[in-house]
Amino acid sequence: MAIVTSKEMFEKAYKGGYAIGAFNVNNMEIIQGITEAAMEERAPLILQVSKGARSYAKHVYLMKLIEAAVQDAEQSAGFDLPICVHLDHGDSFELCKSCIDGGFTSVMIDASSKPFEENIAVTRQVVEYAHDHGVVVEAELGTLAGIEDEVNVSAEDSSYTRPEDVQEFVERTGCDSLAIAIGTSHGAYKFKPGTKPQLRFDILEDVSRRLPGFPIVLHGSSSVPQEFVERINKYGGNMPGAVGVPEEQLRKAAEMSVCKINIDSDLRLAMTATIRQYFSEHPDHFDPRQYLKPARENIKAMVKHKLINVLGCNGKA
Ligand code: G3H
Ligand code: 13P
Ligand code: ZN
Repeated sequence: MAIVTSKEMFEKAYKGGYAIGAFNVNNMEIIQGITEAAMEERAPLILQVSKGARSYAKHVYLMKLIEAAVQDAEQSAGFDLPICVHLDHGDSFELCKSCIDGGFTSVMIDASSKPFEENIAVTRQVVEYAHDHGVVVEAELGTLAGIEDEVNVSAEDSSYTRPEDVQEFVERTGCDSLAIAIGTSHGAYKFKPGTKPQLRFDILEDVSRRLPGFPIVLHGSSSVPQEFVERINKYGGNMPGAVGVPEEQLRKAAEMSVCKINIDSDLRLAMTATIRQYFSEHPDHFDPRQYLKPARENIKAMVKHKLINVLGCNGKA
């Protein structure tokens, strides 16, 4: 089993009222922190790679590191850790094809900023190639605000998903899961400080009614733990007003039709907070292992917390 598609994961998650965590990976420590948490919690996992991550670390390094994590789980715990390797926010057929050819088991084609018919056309093209190669496809309708692969999508350009579009889109594209916009956004500044963040569960309910049994995906789902933000600001950082999605709202979404919850910013915050504190307390240290080790441990602890308390997927592998 080991490196698998998300098909079976989503079927079980939908029926079981939980979601799979999709964590963005960029280097060895992040991959180790996440996979060790999943291994100990017996949780199915999606590791996702953005275009930016691919150009930072190279496709082959990330793929081999993920394969190493699967092998390590097998050797050290006798556990067949199911991991789906996914392209996050693919912006072209060529990029999706390259990831499919390079061993990914899932790709996202994000043409959500294009007109409806163009979104359908490119998504359909990716689906045909992917399905011919045993790979599944996530598509997107509606636009999230925030940073996506170095492109800043402003709040004015963002728009909620129109539930009346989803059936036609899924039928005509043949996609396997659908990312929708219900008020989340990418990055660490999702809501105005002091306001009460509220996702549009009415849209999610309407979409679920129109697509019974179909897996829905939420992007921009970091909860921006204030403990990390405070540590970053205490130890020389400057991130005033960073606010994420309340965990209880993500939990509620996971109990509904949301089967995949995307988390990247919280990994970055855990790593940055740990390293900032480390440097502040040990200004004379310069061995990267000394600060990357606690960063990896804090990522692991944070991911464990999510698997158990937010996603509810612990024990499901
Ligand atoms: O949706 C964006 C993800 O957080 C990936 O970010 O493009 O900086 O790797 P990145
Ligand atoms: P966050 O910025 O909320 O972690 O969202 C990550 C994401 O959606 C990756 O595609
Ligand atoms: Zn995203």
